[in-house]
Amino acid sequence: MSETPVSSSSVASAEASKRYYGHKLKEIWSKSLENPEAFWSEVAENIVWFKKWDKVYEWDPPFARWFIGGILNASYNALDVHLKRGLKNKVAIFWEGEEGASKALTYYQLWREVNKFANALKKLGVKKGDRISIYLPMIPELPIAMLACARIGAIHSVVFSGFSATALADRINDAEAKILITADGLYRRGKIVPLKTTADEALAMTKTIEKVIVVRRVGLENTPMKEGRDLWWHDVVKDVEPYCPPEPMESTDPLFILYTSGTTGKPKGVVHSTGGYLVWVWATLKWAFDPQPDDIWWCTADIGWITGHSYVVYGPLMHGLTQIMYDGAPDYPAPDRWWEIIEKYGVTAFYTAPTAIRMHMKFGEEWAKKHDLSSLRILGSVGEPINPEAWRWFYEVIGGGRCPIIDTWWQTETGGFMISPAAGIELVPLKAGSATFPLPGVHAEVVDEDGRPVKPFERGYLVILAPWPGMLMTLWRDPERYKEVYWSKFQPNKYLQFKITPPAIYYTGDYAMKDDEGYFWLMGRADDVIKVAGHRIGTAELESAFVSHPAVAEAAVIGKPDPVKGESIVAFVILKSGHQPTDELRDELKMHIRKTIGPVATPDAIFFVSSLPKTRSGKIMRRVLKAVVSGGQLGDITTLEDAASVEEAKKAVEMLRKAMEEATKK
Ligand code: WT7
Repeated sequence: MSETPVSSSSVASAEASKRYYGHKLKEIWSKSLENPEAFWSEVAENIVWFKKWDKVYEWDPPFARWFIGGILNASYNALDVHLKRGLKNKVAIFWEGEEGASKALTYYQLWREVNKFANALKKLGVKKGDRISIYLPMIPELPIAMLACARIGAIHSVVFSGFSATALADRINDAEAKILITADGLYRRGKIVPLKTTADEALAMTKTIEKVIVVRRVGLENTPMKEGRDLWWHDVVKDVEPYCPPEPMESTDPLFILYTSGTTGKPKGVVHSTGGYLVWVWATLKWAFDPQPDDIWWCTADIGWITGHSYVVYGPLMHGLTQIMYDGAPDYPAPDRWWEIIEKYGVTAFYTAPTAIRMHMKFGEEWAKKHDLSSLRILGSVGEPINPEAWRWFYEVIGGGRCPIIDTWWQTETGGFMISPAAGIELVPLKAGSATFPLPGVHAEVVDEDGRPVKPFERGYLVILAPWPGMLMTLWRDPERYKEVYWSKFQPNKYLQFKITPPAIYYTGDYAMKDDEGYFWLMGRADDVIKVAGHRIGTAELESAFVSHPAVAEAAVIGKPDPVKGESIVAFVILKSGHQPTDELRDELKMHIRKTIGPVATPDAIFFVSSLPKTRSGKIMRRVLKAVVSGGQLGDITTLEDAASVEEAKKAVEMLRKAMEEATKK
């Protein structure tokens, strides 16, 4: 690509839009919605099926099943296919450890490791449909373990290695996992974190785990190993057969469960299918980033999140790409660590998050300038809205003004990109801060409270009006909650006046607007979910973590705008009688949250108060709290739903302000 169309203002000229949009992309998009059967049966041919599907999809709202009757295997599509297509000796993963170690794994080597580990799991009695929890840092054993599960039809449930023992235990218990795969420790900012010790704490709260497989990552002496339960990875792969035939899986068999925060305290087990998910990930990566055979792909996301599942593990491997996997902090030992890696390997496609970009912006462009970044051809962003300043910095300083920025809007639940520029189809003029248009197969709309489309520039709720192959199948063993959370906010047929009449409407939980040219602008969460450094954390989850501390009677948590993290966590806490609001207690509560959820959830501020503004029905008025924290107007307090007691709210606000003032005086 020689020229990247980027509009100079945030609103591209109508001229430009006529020039670029309305042609190929729009045509393909329209076709995909008019005749999904024809469209998807063609796209699905790009991955390998042991047996073709009988039916493209069945839509029994809100449950969709894709490529029914189709038989395939995910690890076969990620690895075996390349051995036969001449990519056997191509590097699949260039791995870099924070401590300076590095390693390259070819497709053949990765395939062998996966086969061996799959046989090791089989030997331990793992069967198709069993759940395996994986709690590992960003080391090759992580994708190897996932692909080995996929190879034998076990369902993997990866838990981010930054999560706490309690968070890990909750996820193991909900999935009823039989095996846990973890490591002795991990490196973070030069220090060793003893991961196995945390895993053991979690295991004390679980009953289903039969065996624990431990990778020796840091060589910690005295790693606790329980006789009969705990095994070293290097021992279990010792005497196994080198080949494991891939299990023939139904397209609708679950490939994995990945937990994500919602608006209640309990994490949701998002279940993804095998066939629909793989087709979706294959296609979206192709459309959005236009992968090339000699690309060096680098998605900086941890595999513990959906971005890593789809665009570190399954997507790039299915495309036979060479990629970078880095296990460490982005600024360790110095702020140019990432730029150094880009130079070292000649990275061509770099996909990261706005929070990381803003952090690097703060360090200053001199760190990037020290390195040759001219290999880059395309950039990507994900996790939260990218503010125009960060967009421009990324475009100019990192991309050298050459590389389009693929701002991909999607969610754990969607499996892959939904709204994003499509460099692999037709690149529209970009606007800093807009994810542009829905990809083929995505029928996105912005609607008001009643489900009616809003006018240009008006904020509304982002909804999806038709099923797509990558959509979650359900929530693990909780179909009722699945219906409730995603499909109940907007009643179909009642208000919607679209050309199509959708039998069910998927609610994303996001605010969005469209501009006068139809570009989508994502505007953050509309529900009680906050985004801290791109990580999704439910306020309810935080609040229940607070009240699990013996000194806390009640807590209300909100997100406060933060220049680097996007949002930071602010908590208002009512103490039980007999407890004093001291600085020690504040620190103790911070530690308590880190221990119950993990370091990502560390609150930035905790205010002790004696009451909270509530509606008559007892709901905490977060809008009021937010206004107080950001010093904003409380103007619309009377319009709050549920006939809020305005006077009481005002009183509470006064108190909150006082409490905050006192806290800042100190
Ligand atoms: C939520 C999903 C999808 C992988 C990473 C996060 C926000 C995500 C964007 C974007 C604006 C975005 C939304 C969404 N989000 N990407 N490009 N622009 N907002 O996955 O933890 O499931 O979070 O992240 O609010 O609903 P997740």
